[in-house]
Amino acid sequence: MIRKENERRIFSEEVLYMNHKQRIQKAHKQAKKDFSMQKQDHHRQAFHIDPPSNWLNDPNGLVFFQNEYHVFFQYGPYSVSEGARHWGHYKSKDLVHWKALPPALAPGETYDRDGCFSGSAVVHNDQLYLIYTGHLDDASPKETQCVAISEDGVNFTKYAHNPVIKEKPRSEFSEDFRDPKVWKQDDIYHMIVGNNHDGSGQALLYQSSDLLNWEYQGVFAKSVGDQGFMWECPDFIQVDGDHYLILSPEGMDGVNHKSIYLQGEYDQDQKKFNQVSHHLIDYGTDFYAPQTFVDYKGRTIMFGWLNLWESSFPTSNAGFVGSLTIPRELHSRKGKLIQEPVEELKKLRQEKIEVELAGTVEQEIEQKLEVGEFDLTFHWSKGDEFVRLFLRTSKDRTEKTVVSLHVDSQRLSVDRENSGEGDTSGVSMPIDFSAKTCHLRIFMDRTSLEIFAEEGEKVFSTRIYPHEDSQAVHVEMGGSNPKLNLQAWKLRDVMGGIYS
Ligand code: FRU
Repeated sequence: MIRKENERRIFSEEVLYMNHKQRIQKAHKQAKKDFSMQKQDHHRQAFHIDPPSNWLNDPNGLVFFQNEYHVFFQYGPYSVSEGARHWGHYKSKDLVHWKALPPALAPGETYDRDGCFSGSAVVHNDQLYLIYTGHLDDASPKETQCVAISEDGVNFTKYAHNPVIKEKPRSEFSEDFRDPKVWKQDDIYHMIVGNNHDGSGQALLYQSSDLLNWEYQGVFAKSVGDQGFMWECPDFIQVDGDHYLILSPEGMDGVNHKSIYLQGEYDQDQKKFNQVSHHLIDYGTDFYAPQTFVDYKGRTIMFGWLNLWESSFPTSNAGFVGSLTIPRELHSRKGKLIQEPVEELKKLRQEKIEVELAGTVEQEIEQKLEVGEFDLTFHWSKGDEFVRLFLRTSKDRTEKTVVSLHVDSQRLSVDRENSGEGDTSGVSMPIDFSAKTCHLRIFMDRTSLEIFAEEGEKVFSTRIYPHEDSQAVHVEMGGSNPKLNLQAWKLRDVMGGIYS
């Protein structure tokens, strides 16, 4: 793996000799203590999940259990630089207001000593099952699949006969064998696991009737052309009748990490997914390892990690690193995966601002908007029109993050050159301007922007780390005959109360 040179075991001897319950208690105590000191930091997200303290990466085990949503995540409670991964745990009744629970999994068994890596959750016989990868740094097998079970959705017991899949199915496959995603179909549990064979990523299929005894079924899907050497976090979904395979390939197109979805056909008899095309899930600079689940309303909902392994992490000095995206409801439209912010996020809305602009203008919209939502409709006619939205702008206007739409170049771009701390690279994505109007929804938290374009067909997620006083919003518009309708809402801070 490219990044894993700096993987460290942050385990003191003391922790290794504790049992699972004691390790959980220690991590929980640490989290509460750190959070109480860090919760006022101006880089703390207001409505996104970030860790109580220290490190967060992939979303894990997304599930609706006993009337509540549960989100778990890869969590390093003792260090801002990864450390042996635990599973952090938050729950919510509405996907908006979250409560922090004790971590669900702590590493330390012979089979997961160096990390309880990513995985998924299912409800079976009224119990909550977590299916995860036990990771060992310098061993063979390096990665095995394990189970932990809970009656109350809070306290988890690791299965006494772990691992439930003790080794990769073929000796010629690589030792990278992780991130089980489980779903039920025709009363049989199916699991896909990410793997690599001969330098190509692939997903392996298993089946079980009880989540404890698994049988290998074969290669479910594999790379066609350059789709990376390892497929992390595979997720197979059916949405609006269409099948998609979501992947986080390493090394695709010479890029260390990106997340894509494969559109294609599921051949149930052959137990294979045959891909037809692949597409980026998110065009931004910070998005990886998404996972989905189906809730009690039948919605397929996805969370992603709102970073990349390559991202810079300016908040490490403040003692916490990493966020999850907002929950996004998935749909299928003409072979494309559509992402929409879940409806419940409207509960965050407070004061509303609305402006209508036309022609060439430069205008301050608001002096203080740190955490907000924007709904913007841009009309154009000749094709030389543009609009620029300046977010998190300082009084002297030197600090700013600029979101622009250019009809001429058919692109949306985000300029982070003067955004504050952190990465400054700007990125753009293609936009279809054939309709004469362009509609954007933007969710802005203290250190992130998520932009939904083309009614959810294109999404752009990025991190910014501005000064806390940079809060003004401006608009600049120009060209032959542009018009803009902008609605914005200040959003409330719900994450400050996760332990209350
Ligand atoms: C993806 C990933 C997974 C692994 C986890 C470890 O970001 O590398 O493949 O299970 O992170 O934290």
